Amino acid sequence: MSAEDNVISVQDLTKSFSGRTVVDHLTMNVRKGTIHGFLGPNGSGKTTTIRMLCGLLTPDSGSGTCLGYDIIRDGERLRRHVGYMTQRFSLYQDLTIRENLDFVARIHGLTKPSQKVSDAIERLGLGGREKQLAGNLSGGWKQRLALGACTLPDPDLLLLDEPTAGVDPKARREFWAQIHALAAGGSPFWSPPITWMRPNAATRSPTWPMAS
Ligand SMILES: Nc1ncnc2c1ncn2[C@@H]1O[C@H](COP(=O)(O)OP(=O)(O)OP(=O)(O)O)[C@@H](O)[C@H]1O
Ligand SMILES: [Mg+2]
Repeated sequence: MSAEDNVISVQDLTKSFSGRTVVDHLTMNVRKGTIHGFLGPNGSGKTTTIRMLCGLLTPDSGSGTCLGYDIIRDGERLRRHVGYMTQRFSLYQDLTIRENLDFVARIHGLTKPSQKVSDAIERLGLGGREKQLAGNLSGGWKQRLALGACTLPDPDLLLLDEPTAGVDPKARREFWAQIHALAAGGSPFWSPPITWMRPNAATRSPTWPMAS
């Protein structure tokens, strides 16, 4: 397997907060076109790792690339190609579903934003709810909206941070069906490798370096 087959390749990533090591020499390679999960108890550094992988947080030591970009030096360019679904709902509660997606489309400067938003609404089964305020949605529908928002710009990599925590089993199944459909690819240009982070389920799991 060549280095180009890896969408994420990091070596010895370490991060401490206030003298406490929360990510301890994490080495990980994730191949293109895979759905990859990693596990760890609360506070074990999963979110911290995701933030380092997309260049939002600088590791204290270690190095690596994500989508071929250096995670320390090229964070800004890297983030244009990554869809990051944060652990906490981070869209606007007082905007409707469509307004939230329109906003995301415009800040990414997408061409034909209105059409792309309509397609995303259709794809994620959000049709008929477009005028509902995000703040009034149930947890499962919020997750769908968040997934719609982070996939709208056609990212090359999705980083999902506990995307189905607190979601009922039916909504969870539907959510993962959406993820698998996205991974399978609706077009030749849409075949993102997907990395997700949530406890209790994984198809592949690297060794997780537990912080003491
Ligand atoms: N910006 C920060 N400043 C100080 N401490 C932080 C910061 N970010 C994370 N931490 C601490 O680092 C540790 C790891 O946090 P992190 O959120 O990465 O864990 P996690 O594995 O995602 O946990 P959870 O399963 O609860 O989401 C925690 O003890 C947390 O309080
Ligand atoms: Mg977390």
